[in-house]
Amino acid sequence: MLLSTVIGLLVPFLSWLHSGSGSADPKKLNFQLRHYHAVSSEAKVVFHNARPSHDLTASHPTEHTLRGKLVKTRRPASQSAFAEARTRSIKFAQSALLDWDEDDVLGPDVESRDTLLELAKMTNNAYLEPGEPGWYELGGNWNVSYPVGWEPDADGFRGHVFATPDNSTVVLSIKGTSAGFVGGGGPTTKKDKFNDNLLFSCCCARVDWSWTTVCDCYRGGWKCEQDCLERSLVEESLFYSIGTNLYYNLTYMYPESNIWIIGHSLGGALASLLGVTFGAPVVAIESPGEKMAAGRLHLPSPREVQHITHVYHTADPIAMGTCNGVLSSCSLGGYAMESRCHLGRSVIYDTVSNFSWSVDIRTHGIVNVIENLLSQPWPPSEEVGREVPEYAVEDDCLECYSWDFGDYPPSSVSTRDVEDL
Ligand SMILES: *[C@@H]1O[C@H](CO)[C@@H](O)[C@H](O)[C@H]1NC(C)=O
Ligand SMILES: *[C@@H]1O[C@H](CO)[C@@H](O)[C@H](O)[C@H]1NC(C)=O
Ligand SMILES: *[C@@H]1O[C@H](CO)[C@@H](O)[C@H](O)[C@H]1NC(C)=O
Ligand SMILES: *[C@@H]1O[C@H](CO)[C@@H](O)[C@H](O)[C@H]1NC(C)=O
Repeated sequence: MLLSTVIGLLVPFLSWLHSGSGSADPKKLNFQLRHYHAVSSEAKVVFHNARPSHDLTASHPTEHTLRGKLVKTRRPASQSAFAEARTRSIKFAQSALLDWDEDDVLGPDVESRDTLLELAKMTNNAYLEPGEPGWYELGGNWNVSYPVGWEPDADGFRGHVFATPDNSTVVLSIKGTSAGFVGGGGPTTKKDKFNDNLLFSCCCARVDWSWTTVCDCYRGGWKCEQDCLERSLVEESLFYSIGTNLYYNLTYMYPESNIWIIGHSLGGALASLLGVTFGAPVVAIESPGEKMAAGRLHLPSPREVQHITHVYHTADPIAMGTCNGVLSSCSLGGYAMESRCHLGRSVIYDTVSNFSWSVDIRTHGIVNVIENLLSQPWPPSEEVGREVPEYAVEDDCLECYSWDFGDYPPSSVSTRDVEDL
């Protein structure tokens, strides 16, 4: 009796101690699924409410619990200033001078393995419909019907919105590339492929002479017209503009909330681009390098981007930017994933050295990351008293170095050049 009383007193005390008293900012957050989001056939963002479950006996957890931590964000002083700086950069090639507001906000604790694991699960569900194999039950019996305008085979991206019970923090999860090159396929594959190739290849996804390129900026040899590239991106980047609409819609619904954006693969890259635009904390999992895309989209970017965190491992050729070359699995699937530099900071698991994984496109999948990477302790980190690898900024990252980007008007192309590559 006495012992249990003591333990009863001790446990809360210990957990209080454990949660770091004082200076640190331990914070547990519970997230519930609130909405599904999708893009209708008219490229409109649509939301559908998830119905909360009242079935408390459900065997699945009804919430995602993860840890928050203060992170320094930089957001543009105003969205109109951001847009103006971007336009100036596009039209007059002037580098964008922009004021950034610095702010400490609660973001996900990217040094907590459980937090990364929960976030990975939350992005995974963005791929699937409840009940599909691979769906991680979010708990409860969500009664799903599709949003108005939802068409199963319409192109576009979709995902979920989670929120804490008091709406103080809202998580926007964005689905990544459809499974086209990791087996399977899906309604959004075709559109995703186009966007992937525009954003993540050096020059219009020209892998060899047999490819139909996604833009027309190749000028023979290893020459690529920079202006042409940027024009194509700005004109065609429906994803970035849908992403910004989605964010605006969400802030309209949750005007007072702190918003986080998470995503896997292409969804992660988009999450990051939105994070730069709005200063929202981001966790992107196995994202291809999106730094080049941010540059081509002329997104003004603060010098430091601590609020964006990438999580990826070295056996994933998409995140590593090695999924290219005529015989790679990406090329065979019609992708040219050539970019490799990430914005913000990166938590990199060296699965090639430490788990002896071979570089293989199949390791890119989120289910693999959840089950074979984040679900268990990572020995090299545990050895040094950490839960996950230490994050670092990718300072010396180089990409597309064999290409020559410049002012090459189309008239300088001869058919011969094109056939020479
Ligand atoms: C929501 O997104 C749509 C585009 O899908 C946009 O036209 C509309 O202005 C947005 N609403 C708000 C409040 O931002
Ligand atoms: C779920 O929705 C269907 C109609 O779409 C309805 O028939 C069913 O009763 C609903 N189930 C619950 C548990 O609300
Ligand atoms: C949270 O936001 C939802 C809108 O999705 C609203 O219906 C609900 O009342 C809000 N709850 C609180 C506690 O503000
Ligand atoms: C993990 O790999 C690194 C090299 O990348 C090596 O220094 C370290 O010893 C390895 N640790 C374990 C536990 O295998």
